[in-house]
Formats: sequence, structure tokens, C-alpha cells
Amino acid sequence: MRTQRTQVAIVGAGPSGLLLGQLLHRAGVHTIILERQTGDYVLGRIRAGVLEQVSVDLLDEAGVGARMHKEGLVHCGFELMFEGRRQRVDLHGLTGGKTVMVYGQTELTRDLMEARAAAGLFTVYDAQDVRIYDFDTEKPRVCYRKDGVEHEIACDFIAGCDGFHGVCRSSVPRAAITEFEKVYPFGWLGLLSDTPPVCDELIYINSERGFALCSQRSRTRSRYYLQVPLTDRVEEWTDEAFWDELSRRLDDEGRDKLVTGRSLEKSIAPLRSFVIEPLRFGRMFLAGDAGHIVPPTGAKGLNLAATDVKYLSMAFVEYYVDKSQAGIDAYSARCLRRIWRAERFSWWFTALMHRFSEDGPIVGKFQAAELDYLMHSQAGLRSIAENYVGLPLDFGEHHERQRSAHPSEFCGHAGSVEGEHSRAAAAIAARFN
Ligand code: APR
Ligand code: PHB
Repeated sequence: MRTQRTQVAIVGAGPSGLLLGQLLHRAGVHTIILERQTGDYVLGRIRAGVLEQVSVDLLDEAGVGARMHKEGLVHCGFELMFEGRRQRVDLHGLTGGKTVMVYGQTELTRDLMEARAAAGLFTVYDAQDVRIYDFDTEKPRVCYRKDGVEHEIACDFIAGCDGFHGVCRSSVPRAAITEFEKVYPFGWLGLLSDTPPVCDELIYINSERGFALCSQRSRTRSRYYLQVPLTDRVEEWTDEAFWDELSRRLDDEGRDKLVTGRSLEKSIAPLRSFVIEPLRFGRMFLAGDAGHIVPPTGAKGLNLAATDVKYLSMAFVEYYVDKSQAGIDAYSARCLRRIWRAERFSWWFTALMHRFSEDGPIVGKFQAAELDYLMHSQAGLRSIAENYVGLPLDFGEHHERQRSAHPSEFCGHAGSVEGEHSRAAAAIAARFN
């Protein structure tokens, strides 16, 4: 048995684990990341690709934003289509200048992996049989096997960034967790192709034949989705059948512009809303898909993961630098407030845009009435736009602080993140190196 020591042991090298590692590294906090897959496997997973401004800012803060700014596409709006009619949601105009960034999760993961490697930080890929122990004590431990050798990591904290099927959440006694879950009666069949996107912006389509989404990764790479029954198998969907079905769900303009081609990837994903409460168990914290799942309508999954990680990194920095537990104690409630808002939006947007045949024709009529209202109401469009671009990081807290704090105290509170991180780096380096 080989033993190592770190401050924060991170389980999972998806976007949550890698971003947490990077933010903590910049603050001078030592981490080890354990990932059960290989790096190539992690990079082979195709996931969503729309980043809110808050996530873009976080990637900049983590020092990994350069390629995103060069290759990512800034989108100022998207389109909603219903009964063959389109309505543009002018994100920029309706939110006072906010936009989103289209940049694939795979690319972002690659940037984070490269930054970690360049900094010489320790990531164990292919870590088998990861187990977590004693997180309800002052001395948590994480064990794993690599190349047949057993390892143990002694740490101050464990960050469970190991996704929906990870080991961290399942190591918590059932009685300590409350689960909230909704499984939707359909899936999304996705296809990636090196073809120019059908439109400069994304199109969310509610058609009689089911939902479709026209998305993209670049000006030459498209990502499309179709609502399909959960009983469908991806092997049964030829590329031709996919393009044929997509063009039936589009309008005339879309059908004219659609460029088809060979698929680079095709997969079916189920849709689920899932949250657990709380997200902290003693010295173990869950972040990203380990603690919550949203249906992909609205692309909130990655953005929620990023903000969990931001709150968690701030909490650890507060602990090491200010010797304060406040951030750690507040972590779960702070995240959950934001999570539930995104869960609500994703559930609502999913319900608005998909066909629920089992509920009868009345649901289609409700959707038609709601879309008709939204498309003709500035207030309605603004509400979609505000949720789509995402809430600011301190949403809600700002008002509460303003109400409770003395004015001078409140002004004093607003320290810059950079300042916070360099203070942290100095203090922790002194202690740990
Ligand atoms: N031991 C070590 N690693 C594990 C274990 C385990 N027992 N179980 C899972 N993992 C790894 C997975 O292999 C994966 O690489 O944890 C990682 C979790 O990554 P993601 O599933 O991508 O989750 P997260 O990093 O939270 O990213 C959230 O990804 O799924 C999307 O919609 C989601 O976009 C959001 C983002
Ligand atoms: C994607 O590009 O994969 C994507 C975009 C927007 C969504 C979901 C997925 O709402």
C-alpha cells in the first residue's frame, strides 16, 4: 500500500473535477484527481456546448479561456420554432447586453487537461476501485488501485466530482440523502457531423413529430438532436433516417439550407431531472452531475457544474486562508438555490417544447397557447432570455447582503477574486510546501 497526502482529493476528471483542480491550483491549494477512465475516453464523450457568461468568466479566472475566446462563437440570440413559425429570442437585447458562448464541452475539457498537465499537477487516470472513507471525521481517506498496486490518499476534504454514476454519492448512507427525481418518457438522439450548421443561431423546434434542436460546435461542425421514444436503439437509426426525420421537423427555409453528411457520432441520451439534498456530508462535497442532472433543453448542466465548483473553490480558499468554515457551511444551500432555479427552467423548457403523446392532445393545446403568448410578449421573451443566459453568481445574495449589512461593511465586502486568490496562494504555499 502506497500512501500520499493532499489537501483536497478530487474524484472525477470531467469538467467539474478539472475546473476545481485548476481554480484551487491558482489559489495554492494542493489537489490530487482520481479518474477511473483514460484521458482519451474522457475526451471522447460528446456533451453540450453552450456556456453562460458566468462560466466564461470562470474559465478566464482559471486561466484556460484563451482558445475558447479564439474558437468559440458568441451567440446573441436563438430561435424558437412552433407550427412552422420562428421567433427569435434576442438574448442581447432582452438582457441588457448578455450573450452565450458556443464552445464544446470536449474542447473545454481538453483545455483544462492541458493546463493541468502543463502545471505538472497530479492526475491519476485509470484509477480502479476508488473508495472513500471517514468523510464524517477530520481525517478522510480515498483508496484506489492502479496497475495492480493499492494506494491510499490522506486528505482534508473530498470533492465528489464523479458524475451521476460516481462512487461518492453512493457512499453516503441513504438515510442522510433526500432525492428528487423525474424521468421523462423520451430521449434525445444526437448526431454530430462535419457539415455547416443550418442556421447561424440555435433553433429549438416543437413540431408535430416531436422536438428537434439544431445546434453547432463551429461554422463547419453541426450537432443536431431529435426527440425519440426511449425504446429506440441507436443502431436502428441510419444517418439517412436521421436527416430525413430532422428535415420533416424543420420549416421550408431550414429544409432548403440543411446540409447532410456522414455522422461522426450518434447516441441516445435519456432525459432526467434529479437533485439530491444536501450536497455536503461532513468533509465530502458533491459538485456537478454527482449532485444533480437537468434535461439538456437549455444547456444548463455544464453551467451548473461550473458554478458549484466556483462556490466550492471559494469555500476551500476561505477555509485555508481565513481559517473560516463559513463558505463550507454555506456551500450546499448556496448551490441548491441556483440549482433549483436551473432545474425549474430546464423542466419548463422541456415541457414546452416536447411532444407528450401519452398525455393526450390537450397538452399540445396548452403548449400552443403558451408559445403564442411567449412569442407575442416582451415580458415572456425576457423571462426565457434571462434564464437562458443564466443568473449572476451572487443572485439573491446581493439583495440579502444589502438588506443586512451596514453600508460601509457592504462596500468593504466586495474584494476582487484575483486578490482573494493571490492572498490564498501566498498563505497556503507557506503552509503546504
Ligand atoms: N472513480 C473515479 N472516477 C469516476 C468514478 C469513480 N468511481 N465514477 C465516475 N468517475 C468519473 C467519470 O469517468 C467522469 O470522467 O467522473 C467523471 C465525471 O464527469 P462528468 O460525468 O462529465 O460530470 P461533471 O464533471 O460533473 O460534468 C458535468 O457534464 O454530463 C455533463 O451535463 C453535464 O455538462 C455537464 C457536465
Ligand atoms: C448542444 O450543442 O449539444 C446543445 C445545445 C443546446 C442545448 C442542448 C445541447 O440546449
